[in-house]
Amino acid sequence: MSLENVVVQELKRALSIYISDEVQVENLLERPKNSSFGDFSFPTFSLAKVKHKSPNEIASEIVALINQNLFKKINIVNGYINFFVLREKDSEKILTEINQKKADYGSNNEGNGQNVTIDMSSPNIAKPMSMGHLRSTVIGNSLANIEKKCGYEPVKINFLGDWGTQFGKLLAAYKMWGVPEEIEDQPIETLLKLYVHFNQEAKKDESLNDLGRAWFKKLEDGDSEALKLWEWFRKVSLQRFEEIYNDLDIHFDSYDGEAFYNDKMAAVIDRLKTEGILEESQGAQVVDLSAEGFDNPALIIRSDGASLYITRDLAAAIYRKNKYKSVKSLYVVGSEQKQHFAELKAVLKKMGYSWAEQVIHVPFGLITFNGKKLSTREGRIVLLNDVLNKSFELALKQIEEKNPTLENKELVARQVGYGAVVFHDLKNDRLENFDFKLDEVVQFEGDTGPYVQYTNARAQSILRKASKLVQPTEKYVNIFEDDSAFDVIKLLDQYPTVIRQAEKKYEPSAIAKYSIQLAKSFNHYYKNVRILVEGDELFSRLQMVRAVSYVLQDSLSLLGVKAPSEM
Ligand code: ARG
Repeated sequence: MSLENVVVQELKRALSIYISDEVQVENLLERPKNSSFGDFSFPTFSLAKVKHKSPNEIASEIVALINQNLFKKINIVNGYINFFVLREKDSEKILTEINQKKADYGSNNEGNGQNVTIDMSSPNIAKPMSMGHLRSTVIGNSLANIEKKCGYEPVKINFLGDWGTQFGKLLAAYKMWGVPEEIEDQPIETLLKLYVHFNQEAKKDESLNDLGRAWFKKLEDGDSEALKLWEWFRKVSLQRFEEIYNDLDIHFDSYDGEAFYNDKMAAVIDRLKTEGILEESQGAQVVDLSAEGFDNPALIIRSDGASLYITRDLAAAIYRKNKYKSVKSLYVVGSEQKQHFAELKAVLKKMGYSWAEQVIHVPFGLITFNGKKLSTREGRIVLLNDVLNKSFELALKQIEEKNPTLENKELVARQVGYGAVVFHDLKNDRLENFDFKLDEVVQFEGDTGPYVQYTNARAQSILRKASKLVQPTEKYVNIFEDDSAFDVIKLLDQYPTVIRQAEKKYEPSAIAKYSIQLAKSFNHYYKNVRILVEGDELFSRLQMVRAVSYVLQDSLSLLGVKAPSEM
């Protein structure tokens, strides 16, 4: 049981005698920054209001009910009950547990092996993968790892944007201006240029848009020329995306994209009809959502008979539910699509699917690049391969300076460079918008991925050196009265809770932030205490170093970041 749980349980027990209402102990309990105010601290102000007594009075009445043997000391200061835990006993327990469980420490079995589908990455073919898609990729991947750690079975689905009216435009553009060799040579750049050019021309000449629509119609009707071109564009695009996925070591369980649902939409339309919720409106087919509080109906079939993004998402949601029997269905997609997912959920509900409640949009904020918003339509894009390559080069440069004799320099620089980008993407609350400046991201100091990696590498280096010393007796000695040591222990103890929170809120940043805290706290300890001194205390210190390294490695791996043992 974690340190916090001991305090929580004991408080709950005491409070249940003291007051009939349930008290939200977990939410109230604080972890004072300054450990002279205890390891945990419980404020009594809200109880004081209920009981019409002073906070200190309340505090002493509660303390009288608490089993003092469980703690080193309890005192009351300004209405707070401060708990000082039994450092020695508790520290030993935690370190023993971590060193036994290793990478399994912090996991739980809440999911009981049930499937969770995660719709993630889902870039649009014939366009470069954007920073937004990168966010979806890395957040989705991390969520998959976190779900797994909580006992769920994640199913990672790349819902490729490989269908829709934009492909009509692209086909039309290719027919007018395309050069096959250029596409073979530089597929995405060339297709993007065609698409951008088409949009520019269409601003001048409206009829081009009709041409685009006509080509999409051909595609939907299975016209062989349209299909062949489309398959080719899809293939060359996917090859480029896979380079990025391989760099990041992120893999998918399914690549069923929008096109996959082309023959599965008719059944959806039928069901909408039998449920009597499909209505005609100006030649189009819509589902009225006014009773659900929406301003506009959901457009399901356009007046020219073409399907829409939501039509394909409806088919996909139903197909996935049947295939994977998932208990949760996450969609990691930017917050600009909030409305789309609200509609999707509302229509599914109206269709009578009770599991619509389990459809969860996990939105995230926008990345600007050196202060600028990016838009593919206007050709203002940042090529992700370039970002990753630059990041790799910056990492390599720093390694050359700091550790010129390192073996596998290139491999480590890749792990550090890519890890830096991924970590940066995950350390902010996912809904926060943030600006991306590469040279700030690839720093070995500060709140960065490389800093956490570097701290783990330092721990590993200590362990390598320790193996050359006289091996210590495997018996704990109390080194934990030292605050800098016990601060580390408290953080280690918190890890399982952090994971549960990250899972509940679909928030990898909780883990990223935690790993920075643990790294800082360990570095503080390292500055304070000489670890590699032979003697009775060495075992306890090394157990702590090992535990820190396990937890740092595991948090990095939950984020999808590698942990080189030397850098
Ligand atoms: N391809 C879409 C885009 O780039 C994202 C798809 C998200 N997933 C979904 N099931 N709608 O905007």
